[in-house]
Amino acid sequence: MNKLILGDNLEILKSLAAESVDLIYLDPPFFSNRNYEVIWGDTGEIRSFQDRWSGGIEHYIAWLKERVEEMYRILKSTGSIFLHCDWHANAYIRVFILDKIFGEQNFRNEIIWVYDTAGRTKKNFNRKHDNIFWYSKNGKKWTFNGNIEGVGTERKASNHMRLGTDKNGKKFYEKTDKNTGKIYRWYLDNFKIRNDCWEDITAINSEPADIIFLNSLNREAKERIGYPTQKPEKLIERIILCASNEGDIVLDPFLGGGTTTAVADKLKRSWIGIDQSVQAIKVSELRLQKQQDLFSTPFTVQLHW
Ligand SMILES: C[S@@+](CC[C@H](N)C(=O)[O-])C[C@H]1O[C@@H](n2cnc3c(N)ncnc32)[C@H](O)[C@@H]1O
Repeated sequence: MNKLILGDNLEILKSLAAESVDLIYLDPPFFSNRNYEVIWGDTGEIRSFQDRWSGGIEHYIAWLKERVEEMYRILKSTGSIFLHCDWHANAYIRVFILDKIFGEQNFRNEIIWVYDTAGRTKKNFNRKHDNIFWYSKNGKKWTFNGNIEGVGTERKASNHMRLGTDKNGKKFYEKTDKNTGKIYRWYLDNFKIRNDCWEDITAINSEPADIIFLNSLNREAKERIGYPTQKPEKLIERIILCASNEGDIVLDPFLGGGTTTAVADKLKRSWIGIDQSVQAIKVSELRLQKQQDLFSTPFTVQLHW
């Protein structure tokens, strides 16, 4: 199952079976900065870039919509989509694409991912967040592991807490006050599910687009591969852990530097990553090879023209 596929995602999505995927995360070009929309400069990428830009926002929305329609078709009935965007097109995407295809009743969250990257303005408040729209395919049943400690919850047990189970099978953390001997207990059920505004995950790239390759403020980030729109693993990890289970199939149709496939692989999900850029697929392949060992599930790389 695990595969990287090179080609235009529209054709590839059409070739995938209906109701076959559990979770889709997509981080499409944002209809934003023309300077870094073309990242690798491949023929496929340039063609798609020109195509999207030729008719303005309406054209962009039509371009994305036909792809999201296919994503809806291939999602299982318990599946979910997480669409990552920002202020450039978020309003259009929610109203003209997601509400239309998935239905307003299947809106689950608008996750606000707040980061503090470099680049400041004095003309208005600084725009320092992205929007991630989560829709389930079905309004009745979807996967949500919101109780994963520290991931879906805002609370993480500290090292000196003991994990225990009471006589009713309920899990708790306990700690003894050294001075008084008093025992404190926190039931996992009571750990507060995280809010939809995520401020605890830093961005990989802390620079504005025009100085991205000259001056990196965040070079120490181990996962950084020098790809301007690369998303942090921690962000994708939270989404995958909370909205899928081990063995589920995760798809990223705009894979870029391969963050989703790398994280899905570590978390023992099956995965499919698609990108039309040769460089993006190569980088994603290398990233996976680096982290895999003898016991990892093998994967294939396919061409699709
Ligand atoms: C914003 S980047 C994704 C970044 C990624 N989330 C990461 O963490 O590295 C968008 C990617 O979509 C790809 N792309 C754009 N149009 C596409 C299309 N029609 N089919 C497949 N890939 C496409 C681009 O080549 C680019 O790599």
